[in-house]
Amino acid sequence: MRPIRPAIFCKEEESLIMSNLTFGIIKPDAVAKGHTGKIIDRIIGAGFTIRGMKLIHQSKRQAEGFYAVHRERPFFGELTEFMSSGPCVVLCLEKDNAVPAWRDLMGATNPAEAAEGTLRKEFAGSIGENAVHGSDSDENASIEIAYFFSKLELV
Ligand code: CMP
Repeated sequence: MRPIRPAIFCKEEESLIMSNLTFGIIKPDAVAKGHTGKIIDRIIGAGFTIRGMKLIHQSKRQAEGFYAVHRERPFFGELTEFMSSGPCVVLCLEKDNAVPAWRDLMGATNPAEAAEGTLRKEFAGSIGENAVHGSDSDENASIEIAYFFSKLELV
């Protein structure tokens, strides 16, 4: 019988904490402006393998749960309102050193500070509506992947 475990889990390692995986979001601003295909093209062109991908429309409560670490920040209401304002694409990405590799491709959080050639330089309009999200550590990547994907949704 075929094992239920997806290919990304090896026999010894059932944990999702792996340095070759990260979590990403193509945020509602980028989806609404029709940038999804271009961003996915850039992700694949940069050598990532997409292990999970789906279009979702988060509720305010889901966005508040996802960004709970920022709940004391003054922009928390604005952030969760925006993230639940329309569809977004959630991604599980694989590459060696996936977390820093995806953060390099995204560019600085504030697009005004993002380097040429980065996704935020090209597609983001402001620090709040900054086109893409990425995990900041392997541990958070595992938490964020598990927040949106079941094991059966990862290949
Ligand atoms: P992200 O990588 O999704 O992680 C948290 C988000 O908070 C961040 O991208 C920004 O979009 C948002 N953010 C950070 N600082 C501010 C700010 N000063 N005003 C509004 N949004 C912010």
